[in-house]
Amino acid sequence: MSSVNPQPVVAKLTRAAIFLVVTMNPEPRHEETVRAFCGDLSSFLRAVGFRDLEGRLSCIMGFGSDAWDRLFGQPRPAELHPFREINGEHHAVSTPGDILFHIRAMRMDLCFELAAQIMCRLGDAVTTVDEVHGFKYFDERDLLGFVDGTENPVDQDALDAAIIGDEDADFAGGSYVITQKYLHDLKAWNAVPVEQQENIVGRKKLSDIELDDATKPIYAHNALTNIEKDGQQLQIVRDNMPFGEIGKGEFGTYFIGYARSPDRIEQMLINMFVGRPPGNYDRLLDFSTAVTGTLFFVPTATFLDNVSPDGPAPSSSSAPAGDAGVADAAESPRPRSDGSLGIGSLKGEPANE
Ligand code: HEM
Repeated sequence: MSSVNPQPVVAKLTRAAIFLVVTMNPEPRHEETVRAFCGDLSSFLRAVGFRDLEGRLSCIMGFGSDAWDRLFGQPRPAELHPFREINGEHHAVSTPGDILFHIRAMRMDLCFELAAQIMCRLGDAVTTVDEVHGFKYFDERDLLGFVDGTENPVDQDALDAAIIGDEDADFAGGSYVITQKYLHDLKAWNAVPVEQQENIVGRKKLSDIELDDATKPIYAHNALTNIEKDGQQLQIVRDNMPFGEIGKGEFGTYFIGYARSPDRIEQMLINMFVGRPPGNYDRLLDFSTAVTGTLFFVPTATFLDNVSPDGPAPSSSSAPAGDAGVADAAESPRPRSDGSLGIGSLKGEPANE
């Protein structure tokens, strides 16, 4: 396989993030603006990120199913479809979103500047449908008070969980991402005794130690989101962030999960919202309402660099024969601003701290 450079899906955890979801405006000229921007994203990142390299600025750009068809046509990622709503014990809504920008850094000013520059370039081509500024809360806790992210896979396991391989050769090095913005009823949650909260999450609140199997209820969040195929655990890479607006009484968790197939995230969601078995649902949802739900495909950085403003881009993992410019770019990936590597050299490299 020729070397391609994935977007920094498994970037190190950061202190700040902006989640920006936009829709593309209908006129065809806007598609050209967005395509032209794809090739410029890496230079925007370098320009803003270079101002503080220790700030570890990174940005993922993902595309919804309809947007993919409008911008790039065929070939299309094998498992890309609109987010499927779930009507179970609780409701997982599906909401509009053509493009996701997941911007992470150690400092919010870096995220803010990059988001502002991106939106200035995209101008009237897009409309923002959701913008969330996330922060780290004490020792990686969510606003429910639990440490969030402990069981995330790291290093090679993270790549194996999140990055597409040979199963979709045209899009190897890409990823799928599902986002959901949850609002918590903190008053109701804080009225629940801590021991019951721990049963709901499946871990101790203060120490973050996992409940042992004899104690952990089958409805615990970490029981329902633990899924297997052929005896192997199917993992995803999460980078949830707290957010909120105190004056409005808004306290939330922005869920973001990357996976090499959306199927595994969807299975977790069915377990949470419908229950496993049905009715044995995730009690976190009695206190947390999903107000958005979107699914995007994250092509490789190499793909983005090679998008032509005029029309559909070449397939992500390989350059078309005879196109020297694309072949060169694919074979000499530039280091990303966050130091992530081309997929050809990913094996065995540490990805998370
Ligand atoms: C209100 C939103 C959510 C909150 C507050 C939340 C919080 C947590 C917490 C505190 C943990 C335990 C620590 C850890 O391992 O990270 C956890 C684990 C986990 N969560 Fe969530 N989560 C939310 C939504 C979701 C969703 C929507 C999914 C997937 C669709 C998900 C998937 C997982 C997985 C896979 C684990 C690790 C389970 C394990 O193997 O131990 N979470 N979450």
